[in-house]
Amino acid sequence: MNDRNRHPDRNRPPQGNPGPAADGFSDGRLVEVHSQLAREKEEPREGFSLTPIFIVFLFCGFGFWGGLYLTRNSGDFASTAFDVNAPKVTAATGPVEFEPDAAKGEKLFVANCAACHQASGLGVPGAFPPLAKSAWVAGAEERLIKAILVGLAGEIEVNGVKYNGNMPNVGAALKDAQVAHIATYVRQAWGNTAGPVMDTKVAEARKAIGTRGQYAPADLLKEHPLEAK
Ligand code: HEC
Repeated sequence: MNDRNRHPDRNRPPQGNPGPAADGFSDGRLVEVHSQLAREKEEPREGFSLTPIFIVFLFCGFGFWGGLYLTRNSGDFASTAFDVNAPKVTAATGPVEFEPDAAKGEKLFVANCAACHQASGLGVPGAFPPLAKSAWVAGAEERLIKAILVGLAGEIEVNGVKYNGNMPNVGAALKDAQVAHIATYVRQAWGNTAGPVMDTKVAEARKAIGTRGQYAPADLLKEHPLEAK
């Protein structure tokens, strides 16, 4: 037994022997400082303490920011989003420009016109007039377009030969683009050298003729006279 754990007797002056607390603290003073420190410490409690509310908000904020970030930068979670070798999908910028295509026109001509005018474009003597070297085909494209859209009936002179037949409104069932392809082909085949025809021209002509029936060739010439050669 030593007196280190004994409660200090304040009335007694410190003893001469300092004991193990050789740095100037008496046993009594040491115990006093200890109990003072113990008093200033918070009481330990059992159980969990609540998370401060600002930390909850902080993490909510992180979650929200993360969501925003992914929405903007996830690349729709497509595996190709970050693949530099993947083909770029270019955004379509408005309607595609129409390209008159004589090759498409030839196929359409064979299907819709060749039965009468023949694949050679020479027609059938006495029945179907030729398109090759025809003045009706060259020049103003409206004349050719209108003939295809509503057809022709009555006397007509082509390359100095008279015909009197009936051409149905073949183009009525065709799209503007298809008529444009056909007209382009007819104007460039068999030695013909007229320019290509755009689908917008066909649309304009379709509007202009409205619901009228076949043209008499003479009436069509009033609207679009044959060009002097
Ligand atoms: C059912 C037969 C028939 C079909 C199909 C037909 N045509 Fe004709 N086409 C005629 C006849 C007949 C005439 C002459 C009309 C007349 O006598 O008034 C004619 C006249 C023409 C003319 C003016 C005269 C000339 O020879 O230049 C053009 C141009 C023409 N056709 C283009 C076409 C085109 C292009 C197609 C196809 C989209 C077509 N035709 C389909 C029978 C046809």
